[in-house]
This record gives sequence, C-alpha cells and structure tokens, in this order.
Amino acid sequence: MRVLCAVETSFDETGIALCDSAGLMRASLLSSQVELHAPYGGCVPELAARTHLSDLPQLWRHIEPELTSQIRHIGVTSGPGLPGCLLAGVNFCRGLAAHYGLPLYGLNHLQGHIFSPFMGNGSEPGDSLADIPFPHVALLVSGGHTELFLVRGVDDIELLGQTQDDAVGELLDKVSAMLGLGYPGGARLEKLAREHPGMTELADYEGEFELPVPMRSRKYGYNFSYSGLKTAVRNQIHERIGKVQLGSNWQASLVAALFSSVVESLWFKLERAVEEHQVSLITASGGVAINGFIRAAFADRAAKLGVNLRVPHPRHCLDNAEMMAWLLKLKLEAGIPPVEFDARSNWVPGEPGWNE
Ligand code: KG4
Ligand code: ZN
Repeated sequence: MRVLCAVETSFDETGIALCDSAGLMRASLLSSQVELHAPYGGCVPELAARTHLSDLPQLWRHIEPELTSQIRHIGVTSGPGLPGCLLAGVNFCRGLAAHYGLPLYGLNHLQGHIFSPFMGNGSEPGDSLADIPFPHVALLVSGGHTELFLVRGVDDIELLGQTQDDAVGELLDKVSAMLGLGYPGGARLEKLAREHPGMTELADYEGEFELPVPMRSRKYGYNFSYSGLKTAVRNQIHERIGKVQLGSNWQASLVAALFSSVVESLWFKLERAVEEHQVSLITASGGVAINGFIRAAFADRAAKLGVNLRVPHPRHCLDNAEMMAWLLKLKLEAGIPPVEFDARSNWVPGEPGWNE
C-alpha cells in the first residue's frame, strides 16, 4: 500500500494525517490549541509555534511503525499562516523526508480548504480527480480568509475576489468578544441567533435591527468587506448597553440580523460568479462553512439557481491535516511534481506567481 502523509501547523491546530492513494484516511491526529489561547481572546503566535514544536513529535509517536514504513510522499502546509508555526511544520517534515528518503511537497493551506468538499467522510475515499467538475466556483470563509475562486484544476486557480479588511470568521469572533461571549465566536453566535424567534433556518430575519449588506453592488466586483458591518454592530451594542430591557433578548436578534446580512453578502457574489462563469457547481469551505444558516440558505438558493452545492463534512471545515493529505493525493493524481519551497506566510492561490 502506498501511503501519503501530511502535516498541518499553519495556525493553532497541530495535525498529522496519513491516507492511502485512494484518499482513505489511515491515521489522523489533531491537537487543538483553542483552549490554550482562549484566555488571551485569540491566537498568540509565539505560544502557538512553541506548542507545535512540542506536539508534533508527540503526535508522531502515536502512528504505528508499520504504517510509517509505507509512506511514499510527504506534504506539509508551507503557507499561508503564522511564520513561526509554518516553520515548525516545515522543519519537522524536512527531517522526516531526509530520514525516510522521501519527496516533500509544500502545500497551500487555502488550496486544502478549496478541495475539502470533495473528501470522503472517513470511511469512504471521496472523489477521484476525474469526478471533480471543473471549472467550479469556490468560496472560502474562515477565521483569517474570505475569498472567491474560479477553480479550473488542482493547480489552476483564479482569485476572483477577497475581503478588503476583516474575514467573516474574524468579524464573528470580534462580535462575540463585544458581547462577552469569548473566543472563538462563530459557533456561540450561531447558537445565540437560533434563540431569536424571527430567524429562519434559511437566514431570513425579522426583527428590530437593520444592518447593512456590505459590497452589494456590481461596482465592487467580487471583493468583500466586513469592517463596516462590524462597526454597525458595535454601534447597536453601544446604544443598548446600560438600558434595561426586561424580557428582550436583543443580543440574539442582533446576531440573527448579522448572520442574515453575512449570508446575503456572500450569496450576492456567488450568484454573480455562477452567471458570469457559467459553472454548474459551487463550493463553500473553511471554519465558517460549518454554519447551519449558511449551509441551509446556500443549498436552497443553489437549488433555485439550478447549480450544485458541495460543502465539506463539518470536521473538515476547521483546520485539519486530513484536507492537506487529500490535496497531496489530488496533486499526485494530477501528476504534479514536488518543487523546492520555503514557508510563505502570505500565499493566496491565484495571486501572481503563486504556483511558481
Ligand atoms: O478555518 P478555520 O479553522 O481557521 C482558519 O483557517 O482561519 O476557521 C475558524 C473560524 C473562526 O473564526 C470561528 O469563529 C468560525 O470559523 N466558526 C464558525 C462556526 N464554527 C466556527 N462560524 C460560524 N458558524 C459556526 N458554527
Ligand atoms: Zn484554515
């Protein structure tokens, strides 16, 4: 059996995953640092890098030697991400590649997210490269990224647009902090929004708040912006704080309005990209794509538009090494050779020279 190994340390999760050439996961180890960083209200880069350094060898020891002896290719997330965190993974993998005498691939974390909707659920292998429809439109929404891509092939990706300021996950994490709900905020805000009776699963909101839908005009192309929406939410919070409103769960209503506005702003760009590029498939990936409102609203709207929607299994939305092993599998299927690489903290697919 030919086994592929991938290591992910770009941010605050340390992951190692091994899959076979069909894409079936043979081992998957993930050590989350979320609780470690929670008291600081966000990821502390130095602490994250040091924790990767100590966690990687510990995780590695959990893999059966019989499996490690079958590894034929190694991949490591070499960007984008926090420089110290990326270096921890890259150096660990350079050591592995030298020790086992194996080829080493530098992998793009965002590309891992982009292809994660085509992975299997653990017991099934997922799609082969030939089954993936190209071109398709891919939306990536995570804590650090909000981008729209036109995906023509594994390494043939065009960046259509990206956020000009905050990422969607960043907006949610900041609003969560404003409301004193802690970090990370997305899942907590989703739970809160569900308490608002005027919110439907499809993110149709009825209530007292009117929030703007950012960048909803063709003149902005495919770019996004969420700092204005963040300010609008902050202003609403400041207006209400200190006022006694017995029996009113205004926080739930405000957060429901926020999700409704986020769904509208994202869908506006997706719909336009479908029309312009005549694709029959859209995908949504990244940590924010776990969100139930986004999933339900996109599924409903995609069906009405006559296009397919693919989203990853929720456990493949947050950062993980399995999606990186899966990307390595697709690269091998496409016959893409390994190239020399260095860690790149800024590395967005589709930007000039990104795959050189
Ligand atoms: O993809 P990810 O693990 O990190 C990056 O690569 O940036 O995504 C983490 C982000 C956080 O901002 C978190 O608040 C958000 O995903 N998130 C959610 C939900 N669960 C996590 N956002 C909305 N709804 C959720 N249920
Ligand atoms: Zn990520």
